[in-house]
Amino acid sequence: AERRDLAGKHIVVTAGGTREPLDPVRYLGNRSSGKQGVAVAQAARQRGAEVVLIAAHLDIPAPDDVEVRSVSTARELQRAVTEEAATADIVVMTAAVADFRPASTSTSKIKKEKVGDSYQLSLVANPDILAELSAGKRADQVVVGFAAETESDPQALLELGRRKLERKGCDYLVINNVGWKTGFSTDENEVVVLDSRGRIVMEASGSKASVADRILDVITSA
Ligand code: C5P
Repeated sequence: AERRDLAGKHIVVTAGGTREPLDPVRYLGNRSSGKQGVAVAQAARQRGAEVVLIAAHLDIPAPDDVEVRSVSTARELQRAVTEEAATADIVVMTAAVADFRPASTSTSKIKKEKVGDSYQLSLVANPDILAELSAGKRADQVVVGFAAETESDPQALLELGRRKLERKGCDYLVINNVGWKTGFSTDENEVVVLDSRGRIVMEASGSKASVADRILDVITSA
């Protein structure tokens, strides 16, 4: 059955992993596939929302029925999402944003012959985009964050989530466990959603498409 419960809503979704360049050919990246974020964008579109997908690096094609803004680094993502958030009703930060970037980027390829047998990489913190968006949000806006953690103990995972929620200040936090085999590149996901007070408001497992719909259900029922 077709639900158009997001008709008239403007949703911004970030997806994929950022890449922080070291030189023209190398970067620091992560294993995010972008599948869960793309699924959220598609589900929102199907439910009638006007969707902007801010796509960092994706392992899958971006959907062709939503507006896509491609970005690469955390700071590019920050610029795009800050612009789009100004007019958004809902912002879903699914992207895996690098917490740090190289302190400097070489304009030419770093050569082994020049640096020798060991090489010290210096990193600086990226802006916490989710925390900034949450701090600056309008009262009628809903901001959703994600937490991908390798903690497999459910209670410890929840605790990590609650602490993250406090640091970020978002309205909802979607927690999932990721490891070498689960979470990132797979088509299935298992999540727990906390509200801003740290209460569990939803638990879901299944396809990333069905998890996306359940997340949107939580947002629309608020
Ligand atoms: O702290 P951590 O990276 O685990 O937080 C994950 C959440 O915060 C995700 O929603 C991610 O998109 C967001 N994030 C961010 N800016 C950063 C790091 C993460 O917005 N620099």
